[in-house]
Parts: sequence; C-alpha cells; structure tokens
Amino acid sequence: MVSNLKQKVVIIMPTYKEAENISKMVPVLFEKEFPKIAADMHLLVVNDLTAEGTDDGTGDIVRSQMKKYKNLHLLESTKQGLGWAYIRGMKYAKDKLNADAVMEMDADFQHPPRFVKPMVEAYLNGSDYVIGSRYIPGGSVPSEWAIHRKAISYFGNLFIRLVLLKPKLHDLTTGFRLTKVKGVLDKIDLDSLMEPERFAYKVDLLYQSIKNAKNVKEVPLEFAPRTEETSKFSMKEMISTFRVAIILGIKDKQKFIKFGTVGFAGYLVNAFFLYIFASRLHWPEVFAWAGSTELAIINNFTFNNIWTFKKEKITGARELFLKFIQFNGTSIGALLIQTVVGSLGVSLLGQQYRQLLLPFIIVFLVLPYNYFMYNVVIWKSWKLPRMFGGKRVIKT
Ligand code: GDD
Ligand code: MN
Repeated sequence: MVSNLKQKVVIIMPTYKEAENISKMVPVLFEKEFPKIAADMHLLVVNDLTAEGTDDGTGDIVRSQMKKYKNLHLLESTKQGLGWAYIRGMKYAKDKLNADAVMEMDADFQHPPRFVKPMVEAYLNGSDYVIGSRYIPGGSVPSEWAIHRKAISYFGNLFIRLVLLKPKLHDLTTGFRLTKVKGVLDKIDLDSLMEPERFAYKVDLLYQSIKNAKNVKEVPLEFAPRTEETSKFSMKEMISTFRVAIILGIKDKQKFIKFGTVGFAGYLVNAFFLYIFASRLHWPEVFAWAGSTELAIINNFTFNNIWTFKKEKITGARELFLKFIQFNGTSIGALLIQTVVGSLGVSLLGQQYRQLLLPFIIVFLVLPYNYFMYNVVIWKSWKLPRMFGGKRVIKT
C-alpha cells in the first residue's frame, strides 16, 4: 500500500510536431483532470526538434504555459527517436523531480485525458505497474479504424503475447502505462533498452517492468482516433517491435533450453553407467540402478548450478552440501511420480505401452516438476504470488 503522503506522479509526454495537440492537452490536464486526482500530478513534455533545431512551435507553446502551471516541465533536444525521449524523460522524472511514479502518455488525445485518473487510482490502491489496456472489457480501439488496421493491432499484440508467454496480460503494445519508481523503474537499466530510437523500446520496457513488478494491473483504455497532425508509427516501427519481442522471447527460453540440455546429458550419464555397472562390472541390479542414477543426479546438480542457474549459483562447501541433499530430495519426488504414474499406466493400458509411457511421463510430468522445483525450491529464481491474503496478483 502506498503511504498517505501525497504521491508525486509525473506524466511523461513525448512530442514531435504536436503544436495543435499540446496547446489543448496541457490545459485539459491541469484544469480538468488533475484537480480530480488525489496525487501530486506533474506533466513533463519531452519535445524533439528537427536536425536543424527547429520545431512547429510545440516548445514555445509549452514554455508559455509553464508560466501558468508550475507543475509543467519541458525537456528539449534534437530528435533521437521515441524510446530515447522516454528514457530522458524517465531519468529526469526519477532523479530531478523525485517522482514516485511515472506515466507514459501520447500528446495526440489518442489516450483520452479522462483515463489518467483510473490509472493513478490503481497505483494509489497498491499496483506498481498499470497498463492502459485496449483489449480488456471496457477498453477499445477506434470504431472508425478500418478492419485491416484493427486486425494488425489485434494480431500483432496477440503474437507478442504468445512469444513472450504472457497470456494473462492483454495489451503488450499500449503506449499508456504507469510505472512505480521504487522497486520497478529504478531496477531497470534504461541505457541498455533494445532499439531505443524506435517505438519498439516499449516492448523491452514492459518486459523488464513486469519482471520487477509485484502487482500488475490492467485498466481499460478507449484508444481514440487521431484528429490533429499525423502518426509517426510506420511499417518499419512495426517490424522492429516484432523483432524485439522475438529476441526477448528467445532469451526468456534460454534457461529452459539449458535445463533441457543438462537433463538430456543426465540421461546419457545414467544410461552409460547403468551399462558399465550392470553389464561390465556385474554389480547387483539395485546397486547398478542406484549408482548410475546418483551419478546422473550429480551431473544435473553440478551443470544446472554452474550453467542453467549461473545467476543464482550456489557456492560454499556447506551451502552446496545442503543444497545437494535437498536436490536429491526433489529428485526422489520425480522418481515417485515416474514410478506411480508408470506402473498405474501399465496396469491400466497394458504392458505393450510401457516404453511409450516413459517419454510421455518425462516430458509432461517429470520435466515440468523438475523445472518448477529448481526455480522455486533449489535456486529460487521465481517469486510466486502469495496465495492467501493480500491482493490479487498477476504473476507473469
Ligand atoms: N519526442 C518524440 N520523439 N516524440 C515522438 C517521436 C519522437 O521521435 N515519435 C513520436 N512521438 C510522440 C508523438 O508526438 C505522440 O505524442 C506520441 O509519441 C505517439 O506517437 P504517434 O505518432 O501518435 O504514434 P501512434 O499513435 O501511431 O502509436 C500509438 O500506438 C502504438 C502501438 O499501439 C502509440 O500509443 C504508441 O506508443 C504505441 O506503441
Ligand atoms: Mn497517436
């Protein structure tokens, strides 16, 4: 929960040739919307100039409005692209204005100002990342959009949800969002965002934010049509957005791929030593199985520790020893699953299915079980949402 002191929320509004829009937007926010909101509301315009250092008057309009509204701020420089405008704005809001939360918002009224209030309210009620969503009940895209435009927006967004494996969130490309500074924005290295000169920065920023956020909330947004000036979005921007999503999607799966590789190596170790112990050394059956299985467990523990989970690597003799015991414990769980389901399956389906059952059990039960145990119990890289008490949390 946020404290009772008035929270400082800074709306960051990038502009590139938006004179008409900004001249109307500033008074609407300061006179109509901000007074209705129980937070200390600020507006930071990040205006980009052409390479020649000129603009269409947007900067001058803001400068003259600043005399009237003390919570209005302006940053200006030559055009480096949308992502950079937000990065500059976020750093300024965080370091110079001491913002408690920042918002991303367009200047062209496509994010209607009346939607600022519910976003800030969600934050004041405890959410640390709020997404203005067009694809939940109450949200929408402009009804006057042609069907192909609606389809591109919808399927583009669906595609990104799929590659990032974020089915619980509905709008991953929206430009209307609120981010808490402490714990979310201040954990992100803004200088290393992907493709910051483009609109695609949005996907990376969202991805990093939901990693840090503990309470993500989607609030409906009725995305309005543009009336003044023209959109700066293009085919090039769209392709780069997909590219960023795909790269992030693969990065996310790298850990799982390593886990699978180590597991497969474990299987080879198991098979090889089973052969050596049983067929070559003629150990009793039970010892051959137990010995080769333990070697596979040692293989899995060691390589997952130094490779798959290298960020969470366990070090120190005592800690390693205790974790290894625990690891053997969770491995017994896998053994139990395999034994119970395997023998039940054979008794239900018949012996001819024995060999076929094994890979199914491994892929659908043992792998997910192990991956879950490693991430939650052994290397603790996943934070699970609280199941009892507290607010509803969307785990992403
Ligand atoms: N400073 C700066 N520099 N501002 C820029 C630049 C730039 O290079 N390019 C665009 N902007 C500003 C615009 O002036 C406007 O206020 C805002 O960014 C959004 O730009 P639009 O050109 O209106 O983009 P759009 O409406 O087509 O795109 C919307 O939908 C996208 C996909 O859902 C935006 O909401 C995007 O944020 C969103 O990703
Ligand atoms: Mn727009």
